[in-house]
Amino acid sequence: MSELPTINLERLMARVTEMSKIGALPGGGVCRLALTDEDKVSRDLLKSWMNDLGLDQRTDSIGNMFGRRRGQTAQAPVCIGSHLDTVGTGGCYDGSLGVLAALEVIERIDELGIETTIPIELINFTNEEGVRFTPDMMGSHVAAGGMSLEEVLKIKSVDGSVVLGDELQRIGYHGDVEPASLRASAFIELHIEQGPVLEQEEVQIACVEKVQGISWTEFVIEGQANHAGTTPMHLRKDAALVASNITNFVRTLTDDIPGQVGTIGLWEQSPNLINVVAERVRFTVDLRNTNNANLAEAESRMQAYAAEAAEKEGVVLNSNKLVRFDPVDFDDKMISLATECSNRLGYTNKRMPSGAGHDAQMMAAICPTTMVFIPSKDGISHNVHEYSSPEQIEAGANVLLNMVLELAK
Ligand code: HGY
Ligand code: MN
Ligand code: MN
Repeated sequence: MSELPTINLERLMARVTEMSKIGALPGGGVCRLALTDEDKVSRDLLKSWMNDLGLDQRTDSIGNMFGRRRGQTAQAPVCIGSHLDTVGTGGCYDGSLGVLAALEVIERIDELGIETTIPIELINFTNEEGVRFTPDMMGSHVAAGGMSLEEVLKIKSVDGSVVLGDELQRIGYHGDVEPASLRASAFIELHIEQGPVLEQEEVQIACVEKVQGISWTEFVIEGQANHAGTTPMHLRKDAALVASNITNFVRTLTDDIPGQVGTIGLWEQSPNLINVVAERVRFTVDLRNTNNANLAEAESRMQAYAAEAAEKEGVVLNSNKLVRFDPVDFDDKMISLATECSNRLGYTNKRMPSGAGHDAQMMAAICPTTMVFIPSKDGISHNVHEYSSPEQIEAGANVLLNMVLELAK
């Protein structure tokens, strides 16, 4: 293994530590919601690091950031990267690991004095998390032609307070490059698994085969505020009851349909007062499945149940589809390359699907793509206690380095 190129772990961890200070939360973890000041500061830091490496930089009009290391030819680059934005209870590794490991790979190739035939390009995608502005994987989705720039710039934040285009301008990352101009000969995203599999099976690397399908629905139930004491039960139009029934029904779907997961993530109730029957509940349902037919079954059964439950209680049901992405298969040769590099480096590895959504699922529409996972402690993520060890990070970044050299040489 010694003759194989490896990364400088100390330098990579120093950057991870530096980046983790941006949006740092008191109890650990980070909050860098897309297009907030914290996102801007993280972008500015990445820009300065890419400057130090002399990369050719550009920003597209949805804010995706690119840093290209030239090759001997001007062929479409081997692209590597991920996202710097986080959820509100973010960890220090979701997204930033992929961006910072990409930076380390480029710096290490410089240090090794290797001239690659094909350029190498680092990408930081805008708004991968989709928690402030839906949908998620937005920047890569626009680059892959999934949404028009016009429609995206008009999107209002989930809390209704700001418009995406204004925020992009405000933080100074409304670039002038056409997102669809993105060209890549291959894309690899290094990411934490965000689940328990690798840790439980004591495997060091996952060579990711596919990403499961994702369906995000927003329900707004409109009932009638009323007195908690004087209103007979049969006269109530209780929005919280219907929202709770739908929530429980989603759990039966996950018991019933193979491979189905379901999450009630956002929940806003009004007037949210102890002695008032709930007038309005706005909540979201996140359904995922690696099998598209099963996912579609879950969606239609949920909608049918919701309509019936609303009818029974005499409330108004509004349903809004926020996101619907089909499952995506990665490129078999790329997955095999990840397996081969892991074996050469002496890392135990396995093929597996991704439960989480990633920019790689959008890049798969543009070029041969795969992902490399490293284990997550206790399988947790989207949680301030998210953790992967320096050794695990080193293994993932070494696989990324060797895959890039194989592809770009
Ligand atoms: O929702 C997801 O799976 C990703 O973290 N945006
Ligand atoms: Mn991520
Ligand atoms: Mn995430």
